[in-house]
Amino acid sequence: MCGIIGYSGSEADAINVILEGLEKLEYRGYDSAGIAFLDGNKIIIEKKEGKLQNLKEHLKDVATKSNLGIGHTRWATHGVPTDRNSHPHYSENKDVVLVHNGIIENYQELKNDLLTSGVKFSSDTDSEVVAQLFSKLFDGDLLSTLNKVIEKIRGSYALAIIHKDFPNKMICCKNHSPLIVGLGAKQNFVASDVSAVLKYTKDVIFLEDGDKVIVEQDKVEIFDKDNKSIERKINKIEWNFEQATKGGYEHFMIKEIEEQPEIIEKTLNIYTDKNFDIKFDEQLEGINFQNIDRIYIVACGTAYYAGLQGQYFMKKILGIDIFTDIASEFRYNEPIITDRTLAIFVSQSGETFDTLMSMKYAKEKGAKTLAISNVLGSTLTREADNVIYTLAGPEISVASTKAYSSQVLVLYLLSLYIGLKFEKIQEKEYVSLIKDITKLKTNIEKIIENKNTIYEIAKIIKDTQNGFYLGRGIDEKIAREGSLKMKEINYIHTESLPAGELKHGSIALIENGVLVVVISTDLEMDEKTVSNIKEVKARGAYVVGVAKKGSLVSEAADKYIEIEDSGLLLTPLTAAIVLQYLAYYTAYAKGYDMDKPRNLAKSVTVE
Ligand code: AGP
Ligand code: GLU
Repeated sequence: MCGIIGYSGSEADAINVILEGLEKLEYRGYDSAGIAFLDGNKIIIEKKEGKLQNLKEHLKDVATKSNLGIGHTRWATHGVPTDRNSHPHYSENKDVVLVHNGIIENYQELKNDLLTSGVKFSSDTDSEVVAQLFSKLFDGDLLSTLNKVIEKIRGSYALAIIHKDFPNKMICCKNHSPLIVGLGAKQNFVASDVSAVLKYTKDVIFLEDGDKVIVEQDKVEIFDKDNKSIERKINKIEWNFEQATKGGYEHFMIKEIEEQPEIIEKTLNIYTDKNFDIKFDEQLEGINFQNIDRIYIVACGTAYYAGLQGQYFMKKILGIDIFTDIASEFRYNEPIITDRTLAIFVSQSGETFDTLMSMKYAKEKGAKTLAISNVLGSTLTREADNVIYTLAGPEISVASTKAYSSQVLVLYLLSLYIGLKFEKIQEKEYVSLIKDITKLKTNIEKIIENKNTIYEIAKIIKDTQNGFYLGRGIDEKIAREGSLKMKEINYIHTESLPAGELKHGSIALIENGVLVVVISTDLEMDEKTVSNIKEVKARGAYVVGVAKKGSLVSEAADKYIEIEDSGLLLTPLTAAIVLQYLAYYTAYAKGYDMDKPRNLAKSVTVE
């Protein structure tokens, strides 16, 4: 996954720009961090295992300033996370230095050839092979050498390379891993995403697979896969640098949780007009819903759980069958796809490899594709037939919170839009469902006001080793998301289940002190859910209930958090916000770094 950044310019110090940029990219991986910069005619490399902070400490006495450099924050795929395996990587003769995001799939074969020809390696990574190969194939011209390298390597890569004979340039390329170019005055940048360069520029080019780019302080030259020098569109980024900072909060995660009411309002303002009409005509142009007989929603992790809620909305509102699948499974589940299929792909980053591959697969089979993504110009949005953006702004914390609620909201609006267009829903019901969004905002604000209650509960449960999250119907989808949040930032093993399914096996695991979190927002099913609470309490479980006002969970659970009504379809989302807080505060009470949980990276660009 990794984050890469490169700088060429005279307006700032390359070392400083790169360290700042890596801080923004650290969500992509934090096994190690490293930098290579030009000092006179020499290329200096500094790299350290662990988070960026270690590298910063290590560099704090470096007084040098530089005009050219590249940096990397790693999520290890090949080779354990050590100083030695950290990027940047040198060629043996130290002529070439590079950073890489992705996987060189045929690295072993290439490495064997290089070893046979006497090349000595100094890391276990796949990436070093590219540096060695570049050096070996170097013919005096950066572009021609890179072409020779590209002919030999297979896999996914975004690469930024410096050669000591060209001390003012870096050459970069990409295939299946994201790479953007940031344009400035007397300074230019490359990076894995825009957040890394936002402080300096909002003019950004999204490179395409097969592009190669030579970056100098006054010049950026792009060559396509046929080596034709080309111009690519310059995009103006609307996000601002402040949005990608903590802005006074202790952690990104809590900042992002608390931004949700504002984002809900923004989504409503931007995507509906004063007559409550949803403005998706442009986004959905070319999709003939009359012709669609099957809809798939495909995504990974939290985005998948948002998709499950979308499926629920669409079924309920449109009265048709919708299928949801996990992106890493979709292609292997024999989905029935025709030219009457609409395939919706949900992804915060728009770069998740499995989601991208699923979209490619659906397209090849003839489906219409719709991307729901948070990142302008991301690969998913460029490759989909249609796009609806979620309006969450940059999400930095690895655990998704505001992007998730934005995805749910967009899926809700989409269901209503299609529903009204095809008269599956009456005007009156439609208006009432739109108004629920305003209630949702107010009710989330109430949760934020009362967050201390959740903190108190988190302090009680923080040492739990095992837990279950239970719910029925749409609440079961919320249980899945709540459980994932708890797992990923607290390393507590939790499992989510439909409340009625527990007794078919998993109840065997209930014993004294096991945590059971129960969600009940649909009072029609409340009594049944309460019976399940009784069953686990009789076996010693500690029950935390998150339920709508009026629920009997209030009496049955050990601890109870009440949420208010935002309608049948949106009240569950308020429960999800409570569960985001519960996970956050549990990590807080444990003293864990919830913004950067172990083993994870925000953008999963490998299969
Ligand atoms: C969320 O908390 C996760 N870290 C993860 O499940 C994430 O939602 C998933 O990897 C999908 O990412 P995407 O939305 O960028 O495609
Ligand atoms: N494969 C490279 C490594 O393990 C880069 C990893 C990545 O981009 O995820 O160092």
